[in-house]
Amino acid sequence: MTAIGVASISGSPGVTTFAFALAAAWPDPSKVILAELDASGGDLTGHFRLQPDPGTASLATELRRERDPDVLARHAQILPSGLKVIAAPARPDRAQAALAVLATTLPEVFKNLPQESAVIADLGRLTGPSEFTTSVDRVLVLVRPRLADLAHLEGLADAVPHAELVLIGRGPYPPGEVEGTLGMRVRAHVRHDPAAQAFLEGRRRRTRLARAAREIASTIMKVTG
Ligand SMILES: Nc1ncnc2c1ncn2[C@@H]1O[C@H](COP(=O)(O)OP(=O)(O)OP(=O)(O)O)[C@@H](O)[C@H]1O
Ligand SMILES: [Mg+2]
Repeated sequence: MTAIGVASISGSPGVTTFAFALAAAWPDPSKVILAELDASGGDLTGHFRLQPDPGTASLATELRRERDPDVLARHAQILPSGLKVIAAPARPDRAQAALAVLATTLPEVFKNLPQESAVIADLGRLTGPSEFTTSVDRVLVLVRPRLADLAHLEGLADAVPHAELVLIGRGPYPPGEVEGTLGMRVRAHVRHDPAAQAFLEGRRRRTRLARAAREIASTIMKVTG
């Protein structure tokens, strides 16, 4: 299985939107689950008017007892597009209570998932439990290619060796220069997309961001087999 974390270090560069786009672009939609593991609280219940349960809170409760490979699907809700999402409570304290349990239980579930399945995890800022960062196969860190944003990434290559960057929007630093300076791979440069909000709310499907996510999903699939 492939577990991909999507995260930021600072600002709000579009992690939730990009994680959603990547999951929605996954080549086999029946095999992917989007999980909100963001300590600051989830956004998907709001964007899609979902019920609070099932989601990360109910998943955490079940994982105290049971860890079979189907557990993730049981705690997912299905969006109109067919995408399975495990949504987090919007309230940060409730989101964090669930994450505290998931930090010690979810890594084992990830390890035992079937080969062809994929989890895309919205990790929010990389200040949440580090168990998620270490239990995913790669972490895509979103950053705007501007000095004030890139400055926060110093030391990240050593702290999270399986992190790669996704540059978002305009900025004076091209991918090659960012790679050279930070010693990290730039997986993609995603342009500013005025339709990003409409896309995340399910009102637009064919957008620049959706196209970029499709390309990234297919290159990641090729690498991981
Ligand atoms: N590629 C993009 N181009 C333009 N705007 C974008 C893009 N991606 C996201 N946005 C917009 O940026 C804002 C923040 O997006 P999002 O909630 O995905 O960020 P985040 O990093 O998850 O933030 P948070 O720290 O609140 O979790 C939203 O208004 C969203 O529509
Ligand atoms: Mg977010």
